[in-house]
Amino acid sequence: MHGITVRTEPIEGQKPGTSGLRKKTRVFMGRHYLENFVEAIWRGIGGVEDATLVLGGDGRFFNERAAQVILRMAAASGAAKVIVGRNALLSTPAASNLIRTRRTDGGIILSASHNPGGPDEDFGVKFNMPNGGPAPQDVTDRIYEASRTIDSYDIVESHDVDLATPGTRRLGEMEIEVVDPVEDYAHLMERLFDFDAIRSLLAGGFRIRFDAMHAVTGPYATEILSNRLSAPEGSVVNARPLPDFGGGHPDPNPIWAKDLIDAMMADDAPDFGAASDGDGDRNMIVGRGVYVTPSDSLAVLAANAHLAPGYRDGLKGVARSMPTSRALDRVAAARGLDCYETPTGWKFFGNLLDAGRITLCGEESAGTGSDHVREKDGLWAVLLWLNILAVTKKSVADLMADHWAEFGRNHYSRHDYEGVDADRAAEMMDRLRGMLGELPGQVFAGRTVESADEFAYDDPVDGSRAEGQGIRVGLDGGGRVVYRLSGTGTAGATVRVYLEDYTDDPAQVRTAPEEALAGVVAAAEEIAQIREHTGRTEPDVRT
Ligand code: G1P
Ligand code: ZN
Repeated sequence: MHGITVRTEPIEGQKPGTSGLRKKTRVFMGRHYLENFVEAIWRGIGGVEDATLVLGGDGRFFNERAAQVILRMAAASGAAKVIVGRNALLSTPAASNLIRTRRTDGGIILSASHNPGGPDEDFGVKFNMPNGGPAPQDVTDRIYEASRTIDSYDIVESHDVDLATPGTRRLGEMEIEVVDPVEDYAHLMERLFDFDAIRSLLAGGFRIRFDAMHAVTGPYATEILSNRLSAPEGSVVNARPLPDFGGGHPDPNPIWAKDLIDAMMADDAPDFGAASDGDGDRNMIVGRGVYVTPSDSLAVLAANAHLAPGYRDGLKGVARSMPTSRALDRVAAARGLDCYETPTGWKFFGNLLDAGRITLCGEESAGTGSDHVREKDGLWAVLLWLNILAVTKKSVADLMADHWAEFGRNHYSRHDYEGVDADRAAEMMDRLRGMLGELPGQVFAGRTVESADEFAYDDPVDGSRAEGQGIRVGLDGGGRVVYRLSGTGTAGATVRVYLEDYTDDPAQVRTAPEEALAGVVAAAEEIAQIREHTGRTEPDVRT
């Protein structure tokens, strides 16, 4: 059955970014908007005739309505089959896994990640490729081009499909398989990690608190941590996904997951705390009384991954995004592993993972993952941490202390200036770009510049080049400042300043980051004149 053809006109502003298309929910709900973008996806990927696709989202407001529309459009365009998570739920890593293991032609994920949800908040649509990873630039360019020339789309007229019960049904000639969103993913986790070891750790009184932030990881954490690993009652909190995430930002950082931080800093704190974001790909790790930065977490996981069954044979190599701290590089050097530095954004890891050059990768923005899927994976990181703690029998604080004693510590912080005037932000970057040649040898706030460049990346697998990926300034003694404009902000420009300094002095590894980084912060200001350009005396967010 093919459906009816609806005449439409192109709608401006449907340019997908690195994480698909994100807009206000009401924009997506506007006349033909979602339909136009979905039709543009079909055209951008060369049609869906006879294709098998995966479909699911993070449960935010409009999630299920959008899924019903997409199913009707897939049926009208000749797709053979769509595999949908129950109630149209699928975390991003679980969708990536299904796309891969079911050998599909790709999938659509409905999410705006860690952005708030609701009728007045954000919604998003993203296409992932048959390898399970986000669509690369050439595909998103084709989708964008298609969205500007679209004049019609096909859609089947029908009642809503029952997505509440697993099983197979039909919409016209297309098959719809509604699956339990957790089952396949939980099974993958059981293969990668030593569930018996984690179960005995928990049975021995090791207390955990996982905060699902009313987002998609609720059902995943409940099944895996509570049911399969027998974590006691109260170990998983905010587990019920809500269309507005309970009014918060489902963003696992010390600001938006403050409840968790407070619980972990209290006298009766659990041994291990963690949170994940709206669509389940980000993670935050906290020990009793100790917050673990994402950069440190990545380094610790790389140093200890071999303790988990899925990584017993060691790592093929590792990668981090450029602004992520170089703690990972120290582990790689000590263990003789290749270490790649890629531009910001998960898609750059895809080629390295597909080519078998790396096993583990991550970003400073709370994303860590491995070759088990082609997305970052929040619960995966939590389970790898638990596996490592179960084998080493160390506390998080002791594991960190031992790590720093062995490798030294890369103190690290990111300062964000949000909603900055876009022209002024661009001027700051232009000024820096113009200074690069003169910076080496100059002294700022007592620190000597050793190197300065604008990061460009030549992909070692497909030879493509990405330019203008942020300005790096290397300081004496292993210090570094990176200046970058965010590619995901919505209002004005977001200036990100990434600050790092290195010490292997045992007396200093325990210093708090803001104290240890005071000199680098002063140098960063003197070099770029951030205050003058942003009109701010302080960053809006420090992470
Ligand atoms: C931010 C993060 C980046 C991440 C991206 C998508 O991008 O910094 O690491 O890959 O979100 O989740 P940015 O706003 O810095 O461009
Ligand atoms: Zn996310």
